Amino acid sequence: MRLLVCGGAGFIGSNFVRIRVRDHGDEVTVLDKLTYAGRRENLHDLESEIGFVLGAIEDPAAVARALADAGCCDAIVNFAAETHVDRSISGPAAFLVTNMQGTHVLLEAAREHGLRYLQVSTDEVYGSIEEGSFSERSPLQPSSPYSATKTGADLLVSSYFHTYGLATLICRGSNNYGPYQYPEKLIPLMILNALAGDHLPVYGDGRQVRNWLFVEDFARGIGHVLEHGQPGEVYNCGGPDECENIEVVRRIVELTGADPAQVEFVTDRPGHDRRYSLSSQKLQALGWEARCRFDDGLERTVTWYRENAWWWEPIRSGEYRDYYERHYGRALKA
Ligand code: NAD
Ligand code: TYD
Repeated sequence: MRLLVCGGAGFIGSNFVRIRVRDHGDEVTVLDKLTYAGRRENLHDLESEIGFVLGAIEDPAAVARALADAGCCDAIVNFAAETHVDRSISGPAAFLVTNMQGTHVLLEAAREHGLRYLQVSTDEVYGSIEEGSFSERSPLQPSSPYSATKTGADLLVSSYFHTYGLATLICRGSNNYGPYQYPEKLIPLMILNALAGDHLPVYGDGRQVRNWLFVEDFARGIGHVLEHGQPGEVYNCGGPDECENIEVVRRIVELTGADPAQVEFVTDRPGHDRRYSLSSQKLQALGWEARCRFDDGLERTVTWYRENAWWWEPIRSGEYRDYYERHYGRALKA
């Protein structure tokens, strides 16, 4: 396939591009604004094999440039988003522009060129669930500015199918982890802090549950939906295991050999969702299955961060340090 991958320089997007180029021989052009979370280094081994256009999805001229670069492509896959819940609480404006307005610009471009359109979405659009799992028919009850803007985008995508007959697909993933994840998120943050001897800040009582999905499994799931999904449909893509945050941190302490006294309970996130859980029966019926269990994936992830200091050292000494100090009220060790 020939794909325009928006947000392909981010965590999941870059893993997706690598798998599509290497395993499927796809021709890929990436459109990315390179925010703090987007990095050319994430695509370092693919530079000569893909096209890259620097630009924002909310900018119609940049989208037109990227489509011209991609030639007559088959589909737009949209990963581009502001993605961190904590940042959406302290500054929601950028989330509206990228997640909602940006999605609208891409939908218009897909409509103009008659392209298949896949929106990468999240389990967070369903809100929190105490027991059981969300199916694609569960009501949408987002609770943070991040998830509310992702929900708005999903609704807009569906409206383009119903109104204009655009061949849209939505794939909702659960919490991802793995190589190239920006260290503001729980797992890489805890791994790098554990290795550096920094504190391990657990929000609230640490008993919140997340449904962990190895990034390569999500990337394959998105590719599967792109190839085999029915236009107009939504597909959940959830991980095989659920785990409380405090247990995730305990395992990271074990795997890194950190001192358990580094764990520190800190003020809870406002409106913190207690539990996420997805049923992926619909995507499994289409032939996708998660391959990586959480124990293995976490070990692989710790090993990757240990072996790739070249990737995270510049991050930990740049904008991230300021963000960390602002958000956690303390500095990272040098
Ligand atoms: P990320 O924050 O690592 O990467 C986002 C990418 O989008 C970056 O490369 C960034 O530069 C780019 N970007 C941001 N704003 C842009 C704009 N206006 N125009 C063009 N590019 C822009 O995010 P991620 O974790 O890789 O998430 C990718 C997608 O998957 C998002 O849509 C997110 O909602 C969804 N998702 C994430 C998870 C998760 O656990 N990380 C789970 C389910 C779904
Ligand atoms: P995060 O990685 O931000 O993903 P999301 O909020 O999208 O699920 O957080 C995962 C869980 O970890 C969530 O319950 C919040 C918690 N958490 C902490 O306890 N401490 C932290 O420093 C961070 C970043 C997250």
